[in-house]
Amino acid sequence: MNPNDPVYPCHAFPENFVWGVATSSFQIEGAAHADGKGESIWDRFCRQPGAIADGSDGDVACDNYHRLESDLDLIGGLGVDAYRFSMSWPRVQPDGRGAFNVAGLAFYERLVDGLLARGITPYLTLNHWDLPQALQDTGGWAARDTVHCFVEYARFVAARLGERVAAITTHNEPWVIAVLGHDTGHFAPGIKHRGTAMQVAHHLLLSHGLALQALRADGCKSRLGIVLNLSPIGPATDSAEDIAAARLEDGRSVRWYMDPLFKGAYPADVWQHLGDDVPQVEPGDLAVITTPMDFLGVNYYTRGVVSASGAWSAQTSGKPLTDMGWEIVPEGLTELLTRMHRDWTLPPLYVKENGAAFQDTLVDTPAGGRVHDTERTDYIAHHIAAVGEAIAQGVPMAGHMVWSLMDNFEWASGYAKRFGIVHVDYATLQRTPKDSYLWYRDFLKDQKAMRHATTVGATGG
Ligand code: FCB
Repeated sequence: MNPNDPVYPCHAFPENFVWGVATSSFQIEGAAHADGKGESIWDRFCRQPGAIADGSDGDVACDNYHRLESDLDLIGGLGVDAYRFSMSWPRVQPDGRGAFNVAGLAFYERLVDGLLARGITPYLTLNHWDLPQALQDTGGWAARDTVHCFVEYARFVAARLGERVAAITTHNEPWVIAVLGHDTGHFAPGIKHRGTAMQVAHHLLLSHGLALQALRADGCKSRLGIVLNLSPIGPATDSAEDIAAARLEDGRSVRWYMDPLFKGAYPADVWQHLGDDVPQVEPGDLAVITTPMDFLGVNYYTRGVVSASGAWSAQTSGKPLTDMGWEIVPEGLTELLTRMHRDWTLPPLYVKENGAAFQDTLVDTPAGGRVHDTERTDYIAHHIAAVGEAIAQGVPMAGHMVWSLMDNFEWASGYAKRFGIVHVDYATLQRTPKDSYLWYRDFLKDQKAMRHATTVGATGG
């Protein structure tokens, strides 16, 4: 797709709209034992036989820890406004409580300063899943004590970096931590117990609210919020059973997070459905959870379709699929964003992750390696257009970030699934910008030229 393609409504983006690219600590950093880093639950989980599809781990990953400067140059070369990264909690506080690790923090100081030197705004996430194993050993997110440990960690980070990072996200995708980590057990820490999962979800939300309150009391200037993975959830057919099943799934995956955050209450239908698996909620918890945020982040990859009989499958839906087997549904993003705007009163809204895995081929050309990942470019361009459409329909969108800067450790799928706009050769760790990187770079240039034209026009210059 060409940036000037009419399908692509450039005019729809506000002048201060934030364009970004995202990664997370465990997926790219490697250096699993360097400079006093503690063990995370993902380090431990990777060692469980069968947990990771290709038997891999995050020990080296993209070795971003040792290649920071050249990776910063890749981000700089893209021309993004913002870089979203996460901090490895066990790198800066090996046991999750007690002593902080100055050497670990120094890595993030170099990262933040390197971004600022390149004119890129740092967006920091405190928890993108790599909880210190030492905290898991005392109950992990199922234990209320972990909530207080998180708040102390958040305060330490904000005190050291808050002046330099524009935005701090407490948690990335609490649904994934709770459900995939503690109900299905597909992700770390690999627990399979629904009641535990619901307690974890509650503690994540509670720690988010308490962290917001503590950071504000400390005078933190960064904008504060959370990032949720959300999809529009629809029924496979218009049978009453499918409609009811879809409504319940919307409750479990969307309203279970949005309602407490923005209405101060858990959805009654899901609460009733959970029976004995409801979480323990102490008086005052919901008032804390509903502490106002400065932004809300949403990660979008695909839609959800639910059939009561379980008969529906993405493989036979007729929609194109990514290498994850996820349907490509850009209009689902517009549907999701407009629904959120309709059903809740929202702060400025960002898409904090959006992208696709495809099987890429690195080809040699006289000009060097190239990856002709047309499908990925197409995916990103159409989803950006879908955000433009949401803006045209009145949704207060503030930014969009591509997942991901580079190919990386895709959790239980290991290294086989490539989401990057930069190719990583895992044997040599060499980076090669894919065509999607080049396209996004040109697109951003175009955006900036338009901003400039608007500014010049507005000032009459
Ligand atoms: C999201 C995660 C991110 C990445 C993408 C593909 O759920 O936040 O780390 O794995 O999926």
